[in-house]
Amino acid sequence: MLLQVPDVLTPEQVAYARQVLETAPWADGRITAGHQSALAKRNRQLPQDCVQALELGALVTKALERNLLFLSAALPQRIYPPLFNRYESGQDFGDHVDNAIRRLPDGSGAVRTDLSATLFLAEPDEYDGGELTVDDTYGVHQVKLPAGSMVLYPASSLHRVEPVTRGARVACFFWIQSLVRDDARRTLLFDMDLSIQRLAETAGQTDPQIVALTGCYHNLLRMWAEP
Ligand code: NI
Repeated sequence: MLLQVPDVLTPEQVAYARQVLETAPWADGRITAGHQSALAKRNRQLPQDCVQALELGALVTKALERNLLFLSAALPQRIYPPLFNRYESGQDFGDHVDNAIRRLPDGSGAVRTDLSATLFLAEPDEYDGGELTVDDTYGVHQVKLPAGSMVLYPASSLHRVEPVTRGARVACFFWIQSLVRDDARRTLLFDMDLSIQRLAETAGQTDPQIVALTGCYHNLLRMWAEP
């Protein structure tokens, strides 16, 4: 499933993040790339342990914890501390699949990357090119969202960032280990949750059929979750 999650950050939070990133110590983007993807990666990135990355990463994580669409779609178990990148004219990131396992920078274990996320921090009219292109079983998707909005997609997908030809593409990116590893199962639970919520708007939360369907949802989650 490829899903757009609108308005993860408010315009004020985006403006604040952009201001902090102006003075941040940008480094070569290959610092977090695997051996193969380092060959395809041409961008800049914030070191994971710099104060700007830590502060803005916490801001993003807090926003995600309150975002019901994100929580329903990702069923997050662990979120990798958000990273920040910047592509300027001529920079891109060629076709790659994200590493399956990411060690947490604080040494507290690892995150299995079930989902990848890109949270856009520049408006689409600030730069040309820079689309996130994701190949999945349903074809090729090109994504370029308003600042503050995010795209979620299976980390197993082949994807790339198209060359930026004008301006700068600034974004936040990270990975999620989900309670439900399998994308098809997670997608089914998400569709079911959305339908139950919509039905409940007209039938009411205490309608016996809504209660029964909610039970089915939780029993499927109980069957599939790997906490
Ligand atoms: Ni990637």
